[in-house]
Amino acid sequence: MPPHVMRAIEERAEAVGFAALKRAATAMSEAYRDGRIARLPDAERTTAYLVTRMPASYAAAYAVLREVRHRLGTKTVASVLDIGAGTGAASLAARACFPDAAITMVERDAAFVDAARQFLPDAVGRTLDLSGRLPPHDLVVAAYSLGEIREPVAKQLWQSARVALVVIEPGTPQGFSLIRGVRAELLEAGAQMVAPCPAETPCPIVDPDWCHFAARVERSSIHRRVKDAELGYEDEKYSYVALAREAVALPAGRVVRRPQQRPGLIVLETCTAGGLRTERVTKRDREAFRAARKRSWGDDWGTV
Ligand SMILES: C[S@@+](CC[C@H](N)C(=O)[O-])C[C@H]1O[C@@H](n2cnc3c(N)ncnc32)[C@H](O)[C@@H]1O
Repeated sequence: MPPHVMRAIEERAEAVGFAALKRAATAMSEAYRDGRIARLPDAERTTAYLVTRMPASYAAAYAVLREVRHRLGTKTVASVLDIGAGTGAASLAARACFPDAAITMVERDAAFVDAARQFLPDAVGRTLDLSGRLPPHDLVVAAYSLGEIREPVAKQLWQSARVALVVIEPGTPQGFSLIRGVRAELLEAGAQMVAPCPAETPCPIVDPDWCHFAARVERSSIHRRVKDAELGYEDEKYSYVALAREAVALPAGRVVRRPQQRPGLIVLETCTAGGLRTERVTKRDREAFRAARKRSWGDDWGTV
């Protein structure tokens, strides 16, 4: 995340105090597991979210929006609407990927909106519940929010998207099931695929498997201490779909697992228009091998 945001989070953490922050983080993660909202004072609740969740949301949103920007090519994104914006993670990622776009954040939690405004002073932060008509924007983003909103709002968001809509959810079977539903509903309504799928054909992923990706998140020292974590990083798992009004160029495939590297051999599990494939690239095919070595989970593979 941008350094000024990291500094502001550290200052908030110091103001709340370590013991209160740790209690709040534990209460929030227990409440999240049980599908309820933790009842905590605003400062503790917001700071616990900033320290323990926002860096991961940012990492996932940044990875997705970078791919969306790449796929949209020369299409102009002059405005972004962030739905269930929380403390502004996806808006900050949008600022990094579409630096000239005007950003509007819609969030029902006033304390979260206040924090988001601190990080993005030139964005519009609106404290409101997602009901009624949303103003049209070029890009509409809902990061980790549709699962919480619980109403079937995908069509409503799509109607507000002039260029594209992006939905990100946790990379769990449940998160993916929501993404798969949004994908099917909006393709049926005429949307065009942007990412991650290489085609608009029915999703070939079969239960109990689920399509998800991972973004590496560097943990700050306060993040590590609050979570009692030893590693300096974590991998945030996410599922997503990005859809546009107009067709964009799609890759031949998408790498849907971490590539396996063996001596002289790279195995890529890819999703293609023809279904799931296992590509075994050997050193003998020098060009393909060189290309495969640079591929990570979530990258595209080949052009059509
Ligand atoms: C898990 S948080 C994600 C926040 C942010 N997008 C992120 O990625 O860090 C989900 C957010 O959706 C907001 N939310 C849930 N239902 C909402 C609604 N009906 N209208 C507006 N915001 C809502 C919650 O207040 C919460 O801040």
